Amino acid sequence: MLDKESKIREHEAEESEKYMSEFDALVTAATQAFQNACAPISNFRVGAAVRAKSGRIFTGCNIENATLGLTCCAERVAIFKAVSEGERGFDAIAVVTDVDRLTPPCGACRQIIWEFCGDVPVLLANLKGKVEQETSGKLLPRAFDASFL
Ligand code: THU
Repeated sequence: MLDKESKIREHEAEESEKYMSEFDALVTAATQAFQNACAPISNFRVGAAVRAKSGRIFTGCNIENATLGLTCCAERVAIFKAVSEGERGFDAIAVVTDVDRLTPPCGACRQIIWEFCGDVPVLLANLKGKVEQETSGKLLPRAFDASFL
């Protein structure tokens, strides 16, 4: 007989496997995009992938340049690519970095994720296969958006 704690741990493992398989392709796509990161200034490389309701996945990486302020984060590159291809409506986004402490989207990206994706799962992952799930609603409480205009 499993004790209560082991059962809870087993349940958590099953849950984590479930979302891993559901979001596997998205995390893999973000990991591939990570390889294209253009971060010669910070050396902090980021990959992202957003899944459209059509099922298509769009990727992005961070892109830095000499003026620094014009840097664009991986998440916004992925979302803007998708929007510019005519996609509207997204159901999940993944962010991949190469550090143990999983990287959440910056404030500017939280706003764009909220406005273009709504309240969706945000997968934070690293190259070692560590994955955590957040939601865009939790990352940006009481968001300002078009409903206020
Ligand atoms: N960066 C992202 O691409 N996404 C984030 O959510 C956090 C920050 C990039 C911007 C910059 O190129 C580098 O990481 C360091 O801030």
